[in-house]
Amino acid sequence: MHTIPVRLVRGRSHRYDVVVQSGLLEQLPNRLGFLAGGNDLFIITDATVNRLYGRQLARGCDREGVRALVLEVPPGESSKNADLVFRLHTELLTHGITRRSLIVAFGGGVIGDLAGFVAATVLRGVPFVQVPTTLLAQVDSSIGGKVGIDHPVGKNLIGAFCQPGAVFIDPRVLATLPARQFRNGLAEVVKIAAALDAGFFSFLVKRRRAVTRTNVRLLESVIARAVGLKAAVVEKDEFERDARRSLNLGHTLGHAIEAATSYRIQHGEAVSMGMAAEAAIAVSLGLMTREECGRLYALLRSLGLPVAFPRIRDRALFMAALSMDKKGVRGAPRFVLPAGIGASALGVEVPPALIDRLLGIGT
Ligand SMILES: NC(=O)c1ccc[n+]([C@@H]2O[C@H](COP(=O)([O-])OP(=O)(O)OC[C@H]3O[C@@H](n4cnc5c(N)ncnc54)[C@H](O)[C@@H]3O)[C@@H](O)[C@H]2O)c1
Ligand SMILES: [Zn+2]
Repeated sequence: MHTIPVRLVRGRSHRYDVVVQSGLLEQLPNRLGFLAGGNDLFIITDATVNRLYGRQLARGCDREGVRALVLEVPPGESSKNADLVFRLHTELLTHGITRRSLIVAFGGGVIGDLAGFVAATVLRGVPFVQVPTTLLAQVDSSIGGKVGIDHPVGKNLIGAFCQPGAVFIDPRVLATLPARQFRNGLAEVVKIAAALDAGFFSFLVKRRRAVTRTNVRLLESVIARAVGLKAAVVEKDEFERDARRSLNLGHTLGHAIEAATSYRIQHGEAVSMGMAAEAAIAVSLGLMTREECGRLYALLRSLGLPVAFPRIRDRALFMAALSMDKKGVRGAPRFVLPAGIGASALGVEVPPALIDRLLGIGT
């Protein structure tokens, strides 16, 4: 078992633990009951996770004498919308939620973002706990307190910073995750290592063939290490003013790739392509050696992740998405680029000719 404390210093200081343990799901009713302290539990989940693990959790709560209501939403990104938030508010209020109740986000990143946003807004804030069930959610979205939904203008544009009371991670649930989803999560693991920790990167290179959905022992340590690294960055910069932007490695180009391909390319795949392209740009700008860039490409490839930049048919859409990236300053895309392995350079302006080269223009 790994327990990673996250300590945040805000108006009042806040500390919570991220627990990573295989088999944790069985202990969850007990732990949740303790945190709820006799108050009601509202578990928000999606239909897939509910079918696979919901009954087990609900039965466990029954056994522990914890009053729990399960609220199910459809799986997928389309659930991150304002109508659904309002419907969940209505359900919670009609079932008598109070500020002492506990909301549990039980699912992937969609559920974490959605349920977290519902928790941040209903009654001006009800405590919530993250129980992430995809690799992406376990290493990335459940850590750091960013919650929110999509807007027709763009993804993740409505939201809040709202930290959970705890994060409970059971790597065993990854056994049922589709392989493509698992690889999406691995892209974020590589991102964390490439941006922050050369030692972790070398560890991944060494164990790359052993990182499978069912190797729970290895997954436990990979997840705990990634969480520890992300948590340390969040502690330094909760509201993403500077250091936390290093976690956007691969994402400036990745988001534009997703948008310009109408989201046919999944997030982790787009991040992998984005990271690879940003590494090539970093080589051109003298921030990274060819050899380091080659190591990054090799690791991504060996994990089954794509590195070739996709064909972008609609260049205008791509460029618009690039300048829409909300982390940009007044429309000018600013890149996070790798600076060797394990470090990154923030806010780099990339010459337009290098972007043209990616898009196959003028080469
Ligand atoms: N808040 C943040 O900091 C942050 C960071 C990164 C990504 N995100 C958000 O996360 C979302 C993507 O998260 P995701 O990739 O986890 O997507 P997701 O929540 O849609 O999950 C992917 C699919 O896997 C299914 N699933 C979940 N757990 C499963 C399991 N154990 N076994 C079988 N199937 C399972 C889900 O039902 C879903 O169909 C995006 O909306 C993105 O914006 C947020
Ligand atoms: Zn991401």
